[in-house]
Amino acid sequence: KKRIVSGVQPTGSIHLGNYLGAIRNWIMLQNTYDTFFFIVDLHAITLPYDAQQLSKATRDTAALYLACGVDTYKASVFVQSHVRAHAELMWLLSSVTPVGWLNRMIQFKEKSRKAGDENVGVGLLTYPVLMASDILLYQSDFVPVGEDQKQHLELTRELAERVNHLFGGRKWKKLGGRGGSVFKVPEPLIPPVGARVMSLTDGLSKMSKSAPSDQSRINLLDPKDVIANKIKRCKTDSFPGMEFDNPERPECNNLLSIYQLISGKTKEEVAEECRDMNWGTFKSLLADAVIDHLQPIQVRYEEIISDSAYLDGILAEGATKAAGIADATLNNVYQAMGFLRR
Ligand code: TYM
Repeated sequence: KKRIVSGVQPTGSIHLGNYLGAIRNWIMLQNTYDTFFFIVDLHAITLPYDAQQLSKATRDTAALYLACGVDTYKASVFVQSHVRAHAELMWLLSSVTPVGWLNRMIQFKEKSRKAGDENVGVGLLTYPVLMASDILLYQSDFVPVGEDQKQHLELTRELAERVNHLFGGRKWKKLGGRGGSVFKVPEPLIPPVGARVMSLTDGLSKMSKSAPSDQSRINLLDPKDVIANKIKRCKTDSFPGMEFDNPERPECNNLLSIYQLISGKTKEEVAEECRDMNWGTFKSLLADAVIDHLQPIQVRYEEIISDSAYLDGILAEGATKAAGIADATLNNVYQAMGFLRR
């Protein structure tokens, strides 16, 4: 079976962008692939954060994975920091990652600009190396993510190729290894629709956990009336009717796309259904669809989060299974890089 890994940071609350861009696709993939879904707590500390909230946010995120339909009979769910190999491989990879590659990362540039120099830890720069470790440790074939992670995936691929070139093949064999490539070179799986869900208050910027206004995003755990209110107040325009793909109407395109994904209809069906609607009619249609879709997720979430023994059991089992695979890869990397083994 081909292998898939992916993860979400336990920062803020999970929103419709995370769901439509990533988590929802995991649910389909788990039926066909060997899947590992983690909560990337080590990534969540790269910007100033609240230590009092981290473990709660980590559990909440795990519970949401399950509530969204991640099935632990099929997929392994675990916490990144519970598998030591992630941080350890990161060190080994750091030493072969050119700083220039990291300086080029768009997310680093954006986040460091916003945070201000004094608040930018080294971890924010080396963040993609940790992400590469998350992926390469499992010899993953595919990584389902939203559009914003594409550049990090590209770096992961380059890093895998670099290690394979520097330490793989005959060189590794001479050190007693199996030869061949040290890492599988993974591919991103970016969905055709939903890869970039935009803000409710600005159709040109993406929906994000860190945007200051909560009005800009729909969180999976928002109560009904909050969702209805956010959609009612979201940005509109003064064109008649509703249409996809008009560059002058980014908000309209975004909301239609959300409706398309949530309703499970095709683009053509949605275009046809909504063509003659005014904003008011469309917004209440969308609000009802989103509320109906999220309601069962919210109910399951409440059940799961209230049973902490169950959740802990799932995470312990997931970490054990993950560690088995991760440790084997890590051992190979140490060997290929020439370390004295005990
Ligand atoms: P994070 O926590 O920012 O986001 C989690 C997932 O949600 C996707 N996403 C979106 N998709 C569509 N529209 C949006 N507005 C939107 N916002 C976020 C992201 O692309 C992502 O798939 N570095 C990663 C976490 C990570 C990871 C990994 C992912 C760490 N290690 C290994 C895959 C494999 C991140 O910060 O995602």
